[in-house]
Amino acid sequence: MKQYQVGVVGATGMVGQRFVSLLAQHPWFNLAVLAASPRSAGKTYEEAVGDRWAMPDPMLANVRNMVVLDASHVEEVASQVDFVFCAVDMKKEEIRALEESYAKAECPVVSNNSAHRFTPDVPMVVPEINPEHLEVIPAQRARLGTKKGFVAVKSNCSLQSYVPALHPLKDEFGLTKALVCTYQAISGAGKTFATWPEMVDNCIPYIGGEEEKSEQEPLKLWGKVEAGVIVPAAAPSITAQCLRIPVSDGHMAAVFMSFEKTPSKEEILARWADYEGEAQRLKLPSAPKHFLHYFEENDRPQTKLDRNLENGMAVSIGRLRPDTQYDYKFVCLSHNTLRGAAGGAVLLAELLAAKGYFD
Ligand SMILES: NC(=O)c1ccc[n+]([C@@H]2O[C@H](COP(=O)([O-])OP(=O)(O)OC[C@H]3O[C@@H](n4cnc5c(N)ncnc54)[C@H](OP(=O)(O)O)[C@@H]3O)[C@@H](O)[C@H]2O)c1
Repeated sequence: MKQYQVGVVGATGMVGQRFVSLLAQHPWFNLAVLAASPRSAGKTYEEAVGDRWAMPDPMLANVRNMVVLDASHVEEVASQVDFVFCAVDMKKEEIRALEESYAKAECPVVSNNSAHRFTPDVPMVVPEINPEHLEVIPAQRARLGTKKGFVAVKSNCSLQSYVPALHPLKDEFGLTKALVCTYQAISGAGKTFATWPEMVDNCIPYIGGEEEKSEQEPLKLWGKVEAGVIVPAAAPSITAQCLRIPVSDGHMAAVFMSFEKTPSKEEILARWADYEGEAQRLKLPSAPKHFLHYFEENDRPQTKLDRNLENGMAVSIGRLRPDTQYDYKFVCLSHNTLRGAAGGAVLLAELLAAKGYFD
């Protein structure tokens, strides 16, 4: 496979640190540029991150002394790389403008941010679910007036456990509705217990904007490409409540689901066991071997035990049983900064590279 030079915009943040860690030893992507706000620009990566380093392993020697660039110096960054990952904490309209300015500088953007998720010609892709949405990229390039540049995004971390679990059942059995309660880790807010001590021994029943994303983004993922845009699916109807809980990493979800043709428990377990997506078929370097793992034990999946399954890229499911109001209920878990953020974006970039979109 060809080697690509890669930049991380927002490299000093929680998700940016994950990108830096994942890219340090990537077989296809060489970490060439780190960029962040003017506060960090000109400092070494180690100085810019300071006491915010939140990864389990120490910062690797080869990135410590890299000098952080100003992310707003688009030409300077874009001229050194084949594409960038982007994970910044800025206003939505500023992020939209920044990402489009990279695309217009012929530097593709693989984004972790929500700003472009509902732009109709921007593909929002989970490689195991909707790889065909990349087909809108030529239409987006035509709108932006670019030859190579485009923006592709990954979906929100909250839904990266239950959408994968619902996906293999949706069409065959006619999923009509789902009710979801999520229990989300503090790293999803870019925090640790050191930076958010109020979360120790606490639960906060509100995460701004999260319930809307959890209900609406699945419909774009399950949408169809028509005339150069993605038309969201009309069903199933999804209702969500999202809670912040005192866990460092790993988003859990309790899910209820109903179907037109109710499957047996064995049929559901078989669809989960056999499910394979484009990421597995193409053997992308970050793809888990088995996307969906079902645990028979009643007390699994557990956040601490199971969030790192297959390098944090697999989804864990358990406790499938009939429900009194819906057809079935179950629980599921995914790692929010790996599968749900940087890992999911790296996997998307691998899909884009494998399909020639960076060439
Ligand atoms: N954490 C998660 O699990 C998660 C999951 C999915 C999506 N996301 C999304 O990913 C994005 C980043 O989240 P995070 O948790 O990593 O946030 P974070 O830890 O607060 O990091 C924010 C990053 O943005 C940079 N930044 C801030 N203002 C900037 C500016 N004006 N120009 C350029 N860079 C600027 C910061 O640079 P400085 O250090 O220089 O200030 C830092 O690198 C957000 O859009 C978030 O919604 C996060």
